[in-house]
Amino acid sequence: MAMWVLHYLLVTFLITITYGIDAASAGIARHYTFHIQLKNITRLCKTKTIVAVNGKFPGPKVTAREGDNLQIKVVNHVSNNISIHWHGIRQLRSGWADGPSYVTQCPIQTGQSYVYNFTIIGQRGTLWWHAHIQWMRATVYGPLIILPKLHQPYPFPKPYKQVPIIFGEWFNADPQAVVQQALQTGAGPNASDAHTFNGLPGPLYNCSTKETYKLVVKPGKTYLLQLINAALDDELFFIIANHTLTVVEADASYVKPFQTNIVLLGPGQTTNVLLKTKPIYPNATFYMLARPYFTGQGTIDNTTVAGILKYHHKPTSNHFNSSKNLPVIKPSLPPINSTSYAANFTKMFRSLANSRFPANVPKIVDKKFFFTVGLGTNPCPKNQTCQGPTNTTKFAAAINNVSFILPNTTSLLQSYFSGMSKKVFTTNFPSTPVFPFNYTGVPPNNTMVSRGTKVVVLKYNTTVELVLQGTSILGIETHPIHLHGYNFYVVGQGFGNFDPTRDPKQYNLADPVERNTINVPSGGWVAIRFLADNPGVWFMHCHIEIHLSWGLTMAWVVLDGDLPNQKLPPPPSDFPKC
Ligand code: C2O
Repeated sequence: MAMWVLHYLLVTFLITITYGIDAASAGIARHYTFHIQLKNITRLCKTKTIVAVNGKFPGPKVTAREGDNLQIKVVNHVSNNISIHWHGIRQLRSGWADGPSYVTQCPIQTGQSYVYNFTIIGQRGTLWWHAHIQWMRATVYGPLIILPKLHQPYPFPKPYKQVPIIFGEWFNADPQAVVQQALQTGAGPNASDAHTFNGLPGPLYNCSTKETYKLVVKPGKTYLLQLINAALDDELFFIIANHTLTVVEADASYVKPFQTNIVLLGPGQTTNVLLKTKPIYPNATFYMLARPYFTGQGTIDNTTVAGILKYHHKPTSNHFNSSKNLPVIKPSLPPINSTSYAANFTKMFRSLANSRFPANVPKIVDKKFFFTVGLGTNPCPKNQTCQGPTNTTKFAAAINNVSFILPNTTSLLQSYFSGMSKKVFTTNFPSTPVFPFNYTGVPPNNTMVSRGTKVVVLKYNTTVELVLQGTSILGIETHPIHLHGYNFYVVGQGFGNFDPTRDPKQYNLADPVERNTINVPSGGWVAIRFLADNPGVWFMHCHIEIHLSWGLTMAWVVLDGDLPNQKLPPPPSDFPKC
């Protein structure tokens, strides 16, 4: 073959791979293997065995680009059953890979494996993955970072480095035993022993100085901190001493940048912030802290995790100080029950709503729902003394007074897909409360919840408006509500009872924030909208794990559309057996 032909072919080939992929927006396939294994680990001077992924705690970072196909093989080597959820991934027509146990799949049993296979469509930013069965996510979690497509810029200055900081909650006890005991006695769960940054509690705990997260930075640079709240039960305030943060993204959706000193994240939420380091070496180190925001009545772990922001210093001949002798600057956080701080912070979030990143808020609503979210009680079994709000009751939680019971021999999605749902769930989840009351006023005398496996069925492409109303039953409290399979727009929020004539007039339909997890304010309400364009069964629940354990969850069944590309395909061949 003549040289020029070879050259021509090579050039054509290069053009095809450089431009062809971009033009077609086709991504690549990325393969990961997660071995679920036991790991010995020491924290707070106690050694224990945890369930972890690939011997790492927190687990491995998964990185992909928008448009890529991820194939993550999860191999279960432990005695617990497990499943993994890719929190915030839309799973467009790939609901079989969503992960919540007994919702979209039965868990992966000991010695078995399953390949989670999904393509990331129209999303980029910081998400995370976690176990989705009982309290296994206490130690089974990690970051899931979606980079923009090649050559697609961020809508903010390109960061010098990206650093995930994942907040966790550490228990000296076995977290599975903690929840089992709570459900058995009816009491609130024992509080965790520490909060963590990337698995490390830091110097403010006894016997923990060695386990301190350190972020070493250079002066005059911009870092993108990828904040993830993986704590089981605690909303967390976050601050870095003497540094202002610029919020640029929430739940993998860009937001209009705004500055703040303190960030608040509910469990499940992610927030990207830009940290601009000081222009010159500051001769100090800085604490970064996180501590709960909490307004409920139970006991909670109110301890503070600290990490250290340290400037990398080039030693010069006349400048020879080691960072050991530098002063540590400590910031102060708002009081633990700072609801006004929380409300003001939440109001700052606006979507970009520009031509590149439009806010496709449904303007016309096909179906309206009004759900109360809050606590309640179940009766104590006969011949048992309970430790709920009274000794004859157990704590429970519910949506529209339905405390959700998961099936345990199949999943909702399998039973729906195979047309065998009749024995598994009913489709009469109430769209408004059956017994209306003054939700944020004096609670009713009867706090008993009803129990059931009820869903709402939505036709394909229904536009939905959902008002989530917090209740004062057993105390007002925030509820970070997470919807699987969708992002939604947060069109309104307020304190007290939602007013259906007054409040919708104030809705923001221009640039509402787009999220997958939203805090229902303590003693207030939030209104969201979404387009039901993803067929499947989608869990929606409070991401405070004990509230989920108590039943604060429900599911949406979104039917197939008429066109072939509007239907959920059948499950993959290695789908876990029930
Ligand atoms: Cu991040 Cu159903 O959870």
